[in-house]
Amino acid sequence: MSALPEASLKQLFTAAHSEHFFNNTPVTDDIIQQLYDLVKLGPTGFNAQPARYLFIRSREQKEKLAPHLASSNREKTLAAPLNLVVAYDSHFHHQLTEQFPAYDARSFFEKSPDWITPTATLNASLQAGYLIIAARALGLSVGPMSGFNAASVDHTFFPDGQYKSFLLLNIGFIDAPTNQKRGPRLAFEKAVHII
Ligand SMILES: Cc1cc2nc3c(=O)[nH]c(=O)nc-3n(C[C@H](O)[C@H](O)[C@H](O)COP(=O)(O)O)c2cc1C
Repeated sequence: MSALPEASLKQLFTAAHSEHFFNNTPVTDDIIQQLYDLVKLGPTGFNAQPARYLFIRSREQKEKLAPHLASSNREKTLAAPLNLVVAYDSHFHHQLTEQFPAYDARSFFEKSPDWITPTATLNASLQAGYLIIAARALGLSVGPMSGFNAASVDHTFFPDGQYKSFLLLNIGFIDAPTNQKRGPRLAFEKAVHII
């Protein structure tokens, strides 16, 4: 395998920003399918894939989301072509017999329920990260947000209590990367240790 060309690294990382303001190009169901087909391949512990994705496009459903958003996130979320609530499935381990047949992982979690939430949050967060990069790879831009009331989003969209939301994303296309100032990133020496 070889490193991606500079233009690809630019699109995925060096020129990419968290974006919240998009043009009017719709994000079609076909694009959502392509996105999922990439995201599902990202590695997760026990191959558990605990993330669940609720894409919100209609005005009616956006209006249901709006009251649960931090006021600073409301207008841009309503205006975005697509919103995505990322949740984890608190019963993800029920599917492990199929997804990880090599080992009786379902019983492991049933006997050690303290492991369910940390495993779900770690792996669903990884999947959300994969999704941001996969979206960029497909030419989309993404604005992640934790400024919303997760408990009330769950009450509205996942009333049976099984799915727990933890991240909201605005998704759409932009004409060109905004020339916004990049927040400082930690210096290599501060974040990285090689021993
Ligand atoms: C988990 C998470 C939560 C965030 N929450 C918000 C938010 O509530 N509102 C907002 O406008 N931006 C939010 N952001 C955007 C960050 O501020 C942004 O990703 C970060 O400053 C890096 O900006 P850059 O991608 O342009 O370099 C969030 C990002 C992440 C990953």
